[in-house]
Amino acid sequence: MASEEANSISYDHLLARCKEIVGESFVFIDDESRDKYAHDETENLHFLPDIVVKPRTAQEISALMKICHAHRIPVTPRGAGTGLSGGALPHKGGLLISFERMNQIIEIDERNLQVTTEPGVITEVLQNAVKEKGLFYPPDPSSKGSCFIGGNIAENSGGPKAVKYGVVKDYVLNLEVVLPTGEIIWTGANVLKNATGYNLTQLMVGSEGTLGLVTKIVLKLIPHPKYDVLMLVPFNDLEKAGAAVSAIFRAGHTPSALELVEIDALKIVSEFVDSSIVPVGDGVAAHLIIELDGNHLDTLMTEMESIAGVLTEFDGGEIFFADDAQQKAALWKLRRRAAEAVKLAGYTIEEDTVVPRAQLPALIRGVKELGKQYDFKAVCYGHAGDGNLHIRIKKEGSVYSLNNPDIIPALKALFQLVKSLGGTISGEHGIGLVQKEYIDIVFSETDLQLMRGIKKTFDPHNILNSGKIFDL
Ligand code: LAC
Ligand code: ZN
Repeated sequence: MASEEANSISYDHLLARCKEIVGESFVFIDDESRDKYAHDETENLHFLPDIVVKPRTAQEISALMKICHAHRIPVTPRGAGTGLSGGALPHKGGLLISFERMNQIIEIDERNLQVTTEPGVITEVLQNAVKEKGLFYPPDPSSKGSCFIGGNIAENSGGPKAVKYGVVKDYVLNLEVVLPTGEIIWTGANVLKNATGYNLTQLMVGSEGTLGLVTKIVLKLIPHPKYDVLMLVPFNDLEKAGAAVSAIFRAGHTPSALELVEIDALKIVSEFVDSSIVPVGDGVAAHLIIELDGNHLDTLMTEMESIAGVLTEFDGGEIFFADDAQQKAALWKLRRRAAEAVKLAGYTIEEDTVVPRAQLPALIRGVKELGKQYDFKAVCYGHAGDGNLHIRIKKEGSVYSLNNPDIIPALKALFQLVKSLGGTISGEHGIGLVQKEYIDIVFSETDLQLMRGIKKTFDPHNILNSGKIFDL
């Protein structure tokens, strides 16, 4: 076992206790199972857990945590393993707790517009279930077809709809949580307003599985809008595409998605998914994908025209309208699979920078300048409406590793740029393992001491997802 003090319980004894608690058929120690949980979608990182357990209830998790707390066993919680900051990687060995069996939607409360769910439900499954009742759960990370809602809570995920509807934190009302010590708590109440004490619910959201294991989730829902319209606009100048973004909001519009995709990313992903839906003209540097939604189609069309007027001021080119559901799906597929495609094309490091949206042109310009200075190639795509730009980096001859001295100075310079623009280093992917080297660029020692104090209060022996976000 990886923990220094784990010898207080033998491996065999721990294994036997895990089997007693969750049942023999839900405990795995074979190489294949351990390997399956050794990686997520983050770079090329790989860390084997000692034991994989798949509990069914909060009570089982509580019993597991009591043993791990008593014997200082490292525990890593894991959703679907789609994370991009290494949050679910068991880098200290020990126990890996997978939520895949806790996959029931418990109740859709149509009178109060709420849903109570277990954490192992796939985000899109949840969205579709509430949509059948005319309801909407907007947060839609690119991995929505495979990620778990519990992982979304851990990372405070976003996605394209965040620009109009907000991120996961804006929908979480109440959480059942197993603490690292094994106690089970509810963090709040199933209400829309709550001024009662410290906000433990929001502390848990985005805490990257370091403070507790979320076992039930109560989410706010809203009525599902009836219509959406989608358009794609080419720009010959990447910075102008970035500048058009804030102008759209200044002109009084709030699109339900406003994404930017640099041309190299579009070419790579078009080939990857074998799509020719977007005709790429000569000299195009980037596209904006703009979606509007609402209950009145004529209003949406008028608003689209007005946005088109704004875009001409930034030399936006000929607009492509997605005519039907099929075209919309094809366009969204290109956007959603960009990260995966660009990664496979050798851009192995993904960043999740976010700046105030009017600073996008400065961020884009700065990234390209840093690329020349530090000899990397960067390709950008992401949630431009939120100022949240994913930057994938390729550095020839350099393989990614957490401590690669070839890469660290370039990333430090990038994050210092982001900070100087009033931004921060992660908008929606979290810090996890891969960004913790850089967290002191955006937080002072006082900030970090406060966070460490919170961690110690929840997890006195530092067993739960230890060494993520920061070291104690
Ligand atoms: C996206 C993921 C990588 O926006 O956040 O595609
Ligand atoms: Zn994203």
